[in-house]
This record gives sequence, structure tokens and C-alpha cells, in this order.
Amino acid sequence: MTRDEALALDAGDPLARFRAGFALPHGLIYLDGNSLGPPPLAVHERLAEVSHNEWGEGLVRSWNSARWIEAPLRVGGKIARLIGAQPHEVTVADSTTVNLFKLAAGALSLKPGRTTILSEAGNFPTDLYALQGLAALLGPGRARLRTVPPEDLVAAIGEDTAAVVLTHVHYKTSRRWDLAAVTAAAHAKGALMIWDLCHSVGAIAVDLNGAGADLAVGCSYKYLNGGPGAPAFLFVAERHQAQIASPLSGWMGHAEPFAFEDGYRPAADIRGQITGTPPILGLAALEAGVDLQLQADPAQVEAKGLALAGLFVRQVEAAAADPALRLTGPRGPTARGLHVSFAHPEGYALVQAMIARGIVGDFRAPDIARFGFSPLFLSYAQVWDAAQALAEVLATRAWDRPEFRARAAVT
Ligand SMILES: Cc1ncc(COP(=O)(O)O)c(C=O)c1O
Repeated sequence: MTRDEALALDAGDPLARFRAGFALPHGLIYLDGNSLGPPPLAVHERLAEVSHNEWGEGLVRSWNSARWIEAPLRVGGKIARLIGAQPHEVTVADSTTVNLFKLAAGALSLKPGRTTILSEAGNFPTDLYALQGLAALLGPGRARLRTVPPEDLVAAIGEDTAAVVLTHVHYKTSRRWDLAAVTAAAHAKGALMIWDLCHSVGAIAVDLNGAGADLAVGCSYKYLNGGPGAPAFLFVAERHQAQIASPLSGWMGHAEPFAFEDGYRPAADIRGQITGTPPILGLAALEAGVDLQLQADPAQVEAKGLALAGLFVRQVEAAAADPALRLTGPRGPTARGLHVSFAHPEGYALVQAMIARGIVGDFRAPDIARFGFSPLFLSYAQVWDAAQALAEVLATRAWDRPEFRARAAVT
């Protein structure tokens, strides 16, 4: 593709108007919205309003007058529209890690007699760590984590499997599971399905209820542009809500928090998965991000993101002469998410050399240079330029400098 052809695609892009809704530094090509999305302009206004008026003037009265107390369910209900759930099946709460811990424990409570939680080797580490922690807490008689290579996963679902835990789009390879097919395979063996939607929500059109999914978690600081450390969300299918038990019973999950009873009496709906006081500043920023996302057609979002990722791969492979560069993960659009990972022995330095040119991606150990293609603020021409820059950095070995090899704490 020529740059003029990329510009022509931009001219016909139905999502191009969204770029003006983001605060992004001029001239920067931001290919890391899959790690931390940029702030929508509306976030700045909303945070100022919450801090000055609702918090500053309303003070504690704002829990009622500004409807802070309803925010987790209200924002959860909006996220539900992006993942094929009913509004009352989703709430914002805690972090993805904590939510996965709660729902995996809940899945065990729904499947008495079954002890195995099955996941894939190489799943995002926090998912495995949370499940390891749960297994250690409950002990081998009640819970154990089994991980298998992805190609063996479906066959490994067995009569003892309480739940299968998978990340829909893999954080490193970008490989996408067939959400409906794997959910059906889990159900065929009597197991529950828990999806981690961190790299899907706001990027890939997801239909949890269409697939009959049971439980799901996800973060909101990537494609939902909710801000650094924004609160996460969780989904519990309506049919499980009255029975599933949360191991982190807190007052906000109580049927009547302001009855101040000594004994825990869980709410029988999605509120039963909320633990403590909701983070209102984080929720306010997130709601502005979700409101923006809801204005876009999810099918167009997915189609554009996949087109941008495909354009990047093709242009890099056509222009880059370095045989050490290797695409990891699938090429086909139905089998991938919106980020692209190239393995290279100098992947870290490569990413730093790109950042020095104003093109921001990130690095995932041991050798992955990762680039994300957020459809709401990227243009085809920017992606074309980024691919040319990567080819040039490789051809000139511009990455080969000591300062590009010095590892920062966050990669
Ligand atoms: C698949 C996946 N799960 C979980 C997380 C992070 O969880 P938390 O928000 O609790 O840090 C990430 C972060 O990138 C992720 O990619």
C-alpha cells in the first residue's frame, strides 16, 4: 500500500471523527492504547466537575445527590452493552486480579465436588498468580490449578474441571480464542467458563450471552480509556447470581449495607460481588471513556482495528529486511486481536528507538516488541508511517545504542 492509499482510507473512515475526542500530544503516534488508553477530552471536564462540585461542594452528601452510590452498577450497565451482557449482569469493582480471584472462588462454590481450575500455560501472569493464590488458600482437596499448552486445552477439560479460565485475546501473541466454541466445550463437560476480556473490551465485538458464558472479568484502562489503574469490571450471568458466593465479603456486597448488621447477608444480585467503597474518581473518568466508546459501532471498531493491525504487519514485512524479526501469533483477522507482536532479539532496544522517534509501543519479555492499534484515535496514515519507521530503525540498526538497552521498571 502507498501512503496516498492509506490517506484515502482515512478519508473514508467512519471512525475518523473520534480522534478529536482525545487529548493526545501533537505528532505522537500512540501504539500503546492496548496498555494504557489516552484520556478522552471529556475525562478532564468530568474529573474537574467531580472534584470541584461533587466532592468539594457536595461532600458526603454526593453519595446520594450525585448518585455516587449507583456508579458501579450504572457504569457496569454501560460496559454490558459492549460485551453482550444484560445491564444487571455487570458491575465495576476492584481490579481484574481481585475480580478473577472472587469469580474463580465463586465458580468452585457453584461446582461442589469439582476441584480443578484449568487455564493455559502462558496466560497473563496475574491470572495464574490469582488462581495459584486461591489454590494455596483452599488447599489441594478443594482447589488446584492445572495449566496446559493452548493446543491441549479443550481436550484437558474433564469431569473434575470446575472452571476454565482463559484470556479471550492473548496479551503477548494476540491469538484470539473462539469464545462461543470454548464456552460450549467447557459446558459439555459440566464446567463453567470464565473469560478475561482485558484485550477485547472496546476492541473486539464480544457476545457473552450469545455464547452462554458464565463469568467474565476485564480491565478498563486499555481500550476503554478509563485511566491508569481505573477500576475493573466483572460479569456474572443472571442464572448464577443468586447462588455464587464471593470469598471477599464486604459491606458493599451486603443485601443492606446501611443496616449495619454484624452478620454477612449477601445481596442476591450482581452487587454481591462488590466488596468495599467504590472509587468515585476512577469511576467518573471511566464513565466518560465508556460513554465515548458507546458512540462507536462495535463492528466498525473491530474491523478498523484489524485492518490497521493487518496494514502494519504487511508494511513492516514488506519493508523490513531484518531476518531476526518474526511475527508471533496468527495473521488471519478472525484469529487475532488488535495488537501485533514481533519477536526480535533486541526487542527492548527496538521499542525504545521507536519511542525516541515519537512512536510509542511497549516490550514484553523476553523478546516481544508490541504495538497496539486502537481504532478510535489512530489513522491509517499514522500506521503506515509507523511501519516505515520500524523498517528504517531495523535497517539502520538505530536501536543499537546503550541508552536504548537500559531497562526501565515498566517495560
Ligand atoms: C489479560 C490481562 N489480565 C489482567 C491484567 C491486569 O490485571 P490488573 O488490572 O488487576 O492489574 C492485564 C494487564 O495488562 C491483562 O493483560
